[in-house]
Amino acid sequence: MKNKQWILKKFPVGEISEGDLVLEENEVASLSDSQILIRNIYLSLDPANRGWMSGQKSYVDAMQTGDIMRGGTIGIIEESKNEKFKKGEIVNCMGGWQQFCVSDGKGVRQIPLGTGFPLDSYMSVLGMTGLTAYFGLLDITDPQPGETLVVSAAAGAVGSIVCQIGKIKGCKVVGIAGSDTKCKWLVDELGIDSAINYKSENVRQRLKETCPDGIDIYFENVGGSITEAVLTRMNINGRISLCGLISGYNAESIVPGPAWGNLLIKRIKLKGFIVFDYFKRYMEAYQDITQWLKDDKIKYKNHIIPGIENAGEAIRKLFSGENEGKLIVQISEEPN
Ligand SMILES: NC(=O)c1ccc[n+]([C@@H]2O[C@H](COP(=O)([O-])OP(=O)(O)OC[C@H]3O[C@@H](n4cnc5c(N)ncnc54)[C@H](OP(=O)(O)O)[C@@H]3O)[C@@H](O)[C@H]2O)c1
Repeated sequence: MKNKQWILKKFPVGEISEGDLVLEENEVASLSDSQILIRNIYLSLDPANRGWMSGQKSYVDAMQTGDIMRGGTIGIIEESKNEKFKKGEIVNCMGGWQQFCVSDGKGVRQIPLGTGFPLDSYMSVLGMTGLTAYFGLLDITDPQPGETLVVSAAAGAVGSIVCQIGKIKGCKVVGIAGSDTKCKWLVDELGIDSAINYKSENVRQRLKETCPDGIDIYFENVGGSITEAVLTRMNINGRISLCGLISGYNAESIVPGPAWGNLLIKRIKLKGFIVFDYFKRYMEAYQDITQWLKDDKIKYKNHIIPGIENAGEAIRKLFSGENEGKLIVQISEEPN
C-alpha cells in the first residue's frame, strides 16, 4: 500500500518556502506485534509546526531533516495487533503529515463517537486549541466579572475560544485581529465588546478608546509591537497568559521586545504554558466546552483544506492570516 508523506528536507530560513517540505510516496510498513495501522483523516496545521522545523530543541525534541513532518491527526484504525485498540476506532495522535501511520499505541487516544459533534471539532474547539484556550485563560489568569480582557490573534483557533470563555466569565473582551472581516465576526457573531484591526488602525490609540479602565488580563498570542502597546495599559496586579508569539516565528533576526519595565512597576503576573501540561485534565475542559457548545455560548470555525498534497502550501496561511479559524487538512474521508 502506498503512503504519501511530507518530508522535512531543509530547515526553513524565514518563511517556509518551496523545497523545505517535499511530498514523497513510500510503502506503508507492515505491522509488527503490538502495532496499529491508522488511516489519517484530519491533519492539524499549527503555528508551532514552524518551531518544530527549526532544528532547535524546545518543549519537544528537535525534528531532523529526512523526518516525516510532525503533526497532530485524527484517524481511523484500519488494522490492530495491539490489544488496547480495535479496528474501526477513531483516534487522535501525532500521526504526522502522511496518509497512513504505523504506531505502537503510545500517545494514541480514542475519540468518543456518537456525541453529536462533528469529527473535525475534535481537532479544534474540543481538541488541542480548545484545551489551550480553556486552561490558558482560566488556570493562568483567573478572570473575574467586570475585568477587561484583551486577546491577540483573537479571530484564530485559540483566540476566538478565549474571547468567548472571557464573555462567559463576565469580562469585557477586546480582540485584536488582522482584517475588518475578522473584527466584524468577533463583535457581531461571537459577541465580544470591541475589536481592533491591527493592520489598519493605531493599536495604542484604539486600546485607549476601547479599554478606558485599563487592561486586567492579556492573552498573548502574538508578541512584538502589539504586546508593547498592550503592556502600557495594563492595570496593577494584571495577569498575562503567555500562549504564543507568532509574530516572531518566521523572524530571521531578534524581534523588538516589549516594555518589561511596565510588568515590574504594575506587579504583573506572567506565566507561559504548553498545552501538553494540561492533557491529564482534558475531561474538565471537555465537559465545560461541550456544555457551552450545546447552550450556543461558544461558536467555532474550522478552515478545512482538502488533500494532503496541499498541506505544504496551506501552512503558510497561518502566517499571512488567510486562515479563518482552525486550519486543518482533510487527508481522507470520514467513515459513514
Ligand atoms: N502554549 C501552547 O500550548 C499553545 C498551543 C496552541 C497554540 N499556541 C499559540 O497560540 C497562537 C495562536 O495559534 P492558533 O493555532 O490558534 O492559530 P490561529 O490563531 O488560528 O492562526 C494564526 C493567526 O495568527 C495571526 N498572525 C500571524 N502572523 C501575525 C503577526 N505577525 N502579527 C499578528 N498576528 C499574526 C493571523 O491572524 P490575523 O489575521 O489576525 O493576523 C493568523 O490567522 C500561536 O501563537 C500559537 O503558537 C500555543
